[in-house]
Amino acid sequence: MVGSKTVISALALSALAAAAPAPTKTTQFSINQVAVKKPAVHPAAKYAKALAKYGATVPDYVASAAASSQSGSATNTPIDGDEEYVTPVTAGDSTLNLDFDTGSADLWVYTSSTDGAPSDANYYTPSADAKKLSGYTWSISYGDGSSASGDVYKDTVVVGGVTATAQAVEAAETVSSEFSEDTGSDGLLGLAYSSINQVEPIAQKTFYFNVIDSLETPVFAVTLKHNEPGTYDFGFIDSSKYTGDLTYADINTSEGYWLFDVDGYSVEGGSSSSDSFEAIADTGTTLLMLSDDVVKAYYDQVSSAKHSILEGGYVFDCDATLPDLSLTINGYTATVPAEYLNYASVSDSLCYGGLQSAGLLGLNILGDVFLKSQYVVFNGEDNKIGFAPQA
Ligand SMILES: *[C@@H]1O[C@H](CO)[C@@H](O)[C@H](O)[C@H]1NC(C)=O
Repeated sequence: MVGSKTVISALALSALAAAAPAPTKTTQFSINQVAVKKPAVHPAAKYAKALAKYGATVPDYVASAAASSQSGSATNTPIDGDEEYVTPVTAGDSTLNLDFDTGSADLWVYTSSTDGAPSDANYYTPSADAKKLSGYTWSISYGDGSSASGDVYKDTVVVGGVTATAQAVEAAETVSSEFSEDTGSDGLLGLAYSSINQVEPIAQKTFYFNVIDSLETPVFAVTLKHNEPGTYDFGFIDSSKYTGDLTYADINTSEGYWLFDVDGYSVEGGSSSSDSFEAIADTGTTLLMLSDDVVKAYYDQVSSAKHSILEGGYVFDCDATLPDLSLTINGYTATVPAEYLNYASVSDSLCYGGLQSAGLLGLNILGDVFLKSQYVVFNGEDNKIGFAPQA
């Protein structure tokens, strides 16, 4: 039996090889994010969005703070309104600014007929060669009641220097009102494992896993920046973007996320722990969300810090001196500078923390506040993630 199986797979392989030439593993490129303006929102909206994304019910006090008229303005950037960083992508006949999201696995976009699409979004137009997958649908619903669903195309998607010729592009037929208000990006490009792709009846591959065999090195690397657009490197590791050596941790792929062990934490001038916990690296979440014991240990070092029902999370005096926060990953100490942990002001004197509680989730999320301090290498062939301080 083993013998005949081997014969079949060898035949299948040679058939495949005849149909498609082996990809040349030469592709490597960088693609820069671009800044787009968004209406300013209260920073609790970022917290609510993360809770909802990972299936938690958003508490009423967080939802009402998120919806309050008081707008947040990112600290150190005296501009009217928030900026969001998105990445330009060609999908079919359209150029779209997508939110690259390592915490999900769907490439979904608006079309001119999407019910509820933001009016200022760029819409996906399938190319002449696009194939609509008959009987395939997708649907995503979040813990705040927001949802999106629609049809699935196979189409050409180009990111930087690489083309996926049969990428599943999920065209929204309907999106709930939460999305209509969430202007800035034209959709999402998921970079988690394909196992959590939401297309039915058969989950589809993400862009990264579609092109992985053509990449010179089977990785993508993320350099998110504080108050400026960052970069995604595909197919290579750019040693000019970090200092020292990369330290790798093994990915636990069971949940489809970039999930790995953190071996402990320390708060500058405060307590530390070497109890390990699992966390995911998520470019699609703004804040750093950790368990209540870490959050408490951190804000114990900030005398004005308090958990505010009115503001929907931890806040402190904007002129407070914050400590750095370090996480230990396989012996490496990744330090988030205090500056990044002062996320945004909510009034003349109060600021909203970049670190908030993951207690409602049971899942620790290393979002942008953490990732901005690191050069992060995502390797989906060897299932590992690498970290080093940004240069
Ligand atoms: C992988 O993650 C799941 C979910 O957190 C956990 O239940 C499981 O024990 C983990 N496996 C290993 C080998 O760490």
